[in-house]
Parts: sequence; structure tokens; C-alpha cells
Amino acid sequence: MTDLAGKAIFVTGAASGIGLATARGVRAAGGRVIAADLGDPGAMAAAAGLGSDDRAISLDVRDAAAVAAAVAEAAAAFGRIDGLVASAGISVPGAVTEMALGDWDEALAVNLTGTMLCARAVLPFMVAAGGGAIVTVASIFGMTGGQGNTPYNVSKGGVLQLTRSLAADYGAAGVRVNAVSPGYIATPMTAMLPEPVHSAFANMHLLRRPGQPGEVAAVILFLLSDAASFVTGANIAVDGGFSAAQLIPIGNG
Ligand SMILES: NC(=O)c1ccc[n+]([C@@H]2O[C@H](COP(=O)([O-])OP(=O)(O)OC[C@H]3O[C@@H](n4cnc5c(N)ncnc54)[C@H](O)[C@@H]3O)[C@@H](O)[C@H]2O)c1
Repeated sequence: MTDLAGKAIFVTGAASGIGLATARGVRAAGGRVIAADLGDPGAMAAAAGLGSDDRAISLDVRDAAAVAAAVAEAAAAFGRIDGLVASAGISVPGAVTEMALGDWDEALAVNLTGTMLCARAVLPFMVAAGGGAIVTVASIFGMTGGQGNTPYNVSKGGVLQLTRSLAADYGAAGVRVNAVSPGYIATPMTAMLPEPVHSAFANMHLLRRPGQPGEVAAVILFLLSDAASFVTGANIAVDGGFSAAQLIPIGNG
């Protein structure tokens, strides 16, 4: 069982999917949660089972001033920010000749700039405290190309490079920065996939199934914890083997 006793962890995208599973997991591991997402904080607190030691806030990660204010308020209330999980994200499909320019801008604004803004806001508190842990949520489609999904793919490739750059810049201050790259995870983001796509995509994973949000959260919790004390700048694929091998039946030998 991962131990996050006493740690204060800021989780974006905490109302749903991987972020929600992470918020629940942080609590189960003894940590305190600052749960941030669009929408109603009360509903988010109820879904995550937050207690009086936690807080839920309505936050748009595209809004630099709001992100900075939310982190500063949380740091004042908790006296510390030990961890950040940047899970807020959106799916934006399209090839470049098909997408609207606004779709491109939106993917980068939420997935990449939003992650950077959250990291930029927590870092001064972590540096002042002598350390901390940031976990970004990238994707298998930040590691490989993918058809008809360019804004999303590019934003997630950027998240991986942001992760490495943050790790390089703040390692000397004791801040660890790592990414998880999920494969196909059963969350509201993927619930709209029609059946032929669902099965084809699931069968491209070596385990022949989608992952569950809690299976990603488990790795995030490890990266937040002191058990990962010598892990930084890493990208851990939580993808049922999707990125490890191509399922092409060449033969037995
Ligand atoms: N589900 C998958 O298969 C999968 C695979 C790879 C990566 N991911 C990544 O995992 C992360 C979580 O995705 P999920 O599957 O849990 O999706 P989800 O849709 O269930 O949750 C995403 C959350 O982000 C929030 N969000 C969106 N825009 C926001 C904004 N501007 N400010 C604050 N919050 C915002 C949403 O309100 C939502 O609650 C995303 O970054 C996603 O790209 C998901």
C-alpha cells in the first residue's frame, strides 16, 4: 500500500476518470487532497469522498491567474503542497486539414499549457520546502503517432517534453517530475468510442482489454510517494503493453 501520510496533493481533473481515481487513492493512502476541476466543487467532493481535511475547488487550468491563486490559497490553508497531479485534459481529434484552428489551440491550452501553469504555480512552494513530486498525465499518443488525432497527440508529446524539462530544471531543488502515459482507459473521455473502434483499440493492447482509472492512479500514487524517491524525468507507460510491441502475427519462430 502506497504511503502518502500527511502529504498535501493538488489534483486537477479530479471530478472524473483518472483524476477522480487519483483523488480517492490519495485519501486512501493517508494524504490530503486539493481537488480541482471545472464545475461544482460539492459534487466533486462527494464523488471523491473528500473529508474535512481536504478541499474541492472550481478551477479552469487554462486561466493562469486562477491557477496561481488556487495554489497559493491551498498552500496557505495546508501549509504545504507536496504533490501535483495534472490530469485535467480533453480529447481533440482531427487531421490538420480537417480540424478548426480553434481545436488545435484548445488542445494545447488545456493539455499542455494547463499542465505547465499548474506546475509553475506549485514549484515555488515545493522549492521553498526542499522538494516535492509532480506527475503529469501524458498518453501513448504522446509517445507514438496516431491517426486523425493530431491536436491531442501533439499536446501530449509536449507534455512529455515539459516533464523532462521540469525534471532537469528543478531536480537540484529536490523536486521530482514524472509522467504516466496511459493506454486506452475506460473513462468518460473514451466512453463515446463506437463498438468497432472500442474492440479494435482494446485488442491492440497486449492484455487485450482497456485499463481502469484505478490502474493508472496506482502508478501515479507510487510516483507521488517516497517509494519513488530516485525516480525523476521518467515516463511510465500504463498501457497494458500497447507501446511495447506491435501485434503482427509473423510466425512462431
Ligand atoms: N482515458 C484514456 O484512455 C486516456 C488515455 C491517455 C491519456 N489520458 C489522459 O488522462 C487525463 C484524464 O483523462 P480521463 O480519461 O480521466 O478523462 P475524463 O474526461 O474522465 O476527465 C478529465 C477531467 O478533466 C477536466 N477538465 C477538462 N478541461 C479542464 C479545464 N480546462 N480545467 C480543469 N479541468 C478540466 C474535465 O472536467 C474532467 O473532469 C487526460 O489528460 C487525458 O488526456 C486518458
